[in-house]
Amino acid sequence: MRKILVIHGPNLQLLGERQPQVYGRQDLAAVNRLLRATARRRGVGVTIVQSNHEGEIVELIGRAKRAYQALVINPAAYTHTSVAIRDAIEASGIPAVEVHLSNIYAREPFRRHSLIAPVCRGQVSGFGVTSYRLGLEAAVELALSEAKPSRRARREG
Ligand code: DQA
Repeated sequence: MRKILVIHGPNLQLLGERQPQVYGRQDLAAVNRLLRATARRRGVGVTIVQSNHEGEIVELIGRAKRAYQALVINPAAYTHTSVAIRDAIEASGIPAVEVHLSNIYAREPFRRHSLIAPVCRGQVSGFGVTSYRLGLEAAVELALSEAKPSRRARREG
């Protein structure tokens, strides 16, 4: 089974209570339920992690190479600051999809630039919780179309 890693960056544990007019009223558990239901429907496995620590996110991405065929990441505030996360995604070679609840291009100038976007296959921004569902759907397509065939599939094919 193809596996997808979903990473929620800093402060996303506060979803539902943090600026609901910007980020919506659903909490992180509701987002994760939607992600798991989407993964089940598409027949892929999903691992979901939230971290407030840049180094931890870098390590998660570094370890993901062996176990996951695609990555969905909301880097949150690190979107705008983290060369380290950008480099980790690039070095991993895992196809990645960047997601944002809010439309970062319609907000303060410092949010309008993503250091992460150039090393991702694409970005979904501005659709609230739906950004995650669409981002995961895109990641499933990437995982299915690009994953290396298993040794058994190679033998039998
Ligand atoms: C965010 C947008 C970022 O600018 C912000 O720092 C976040 C959340 C979003 O999902 O809209 O924490 O990534």
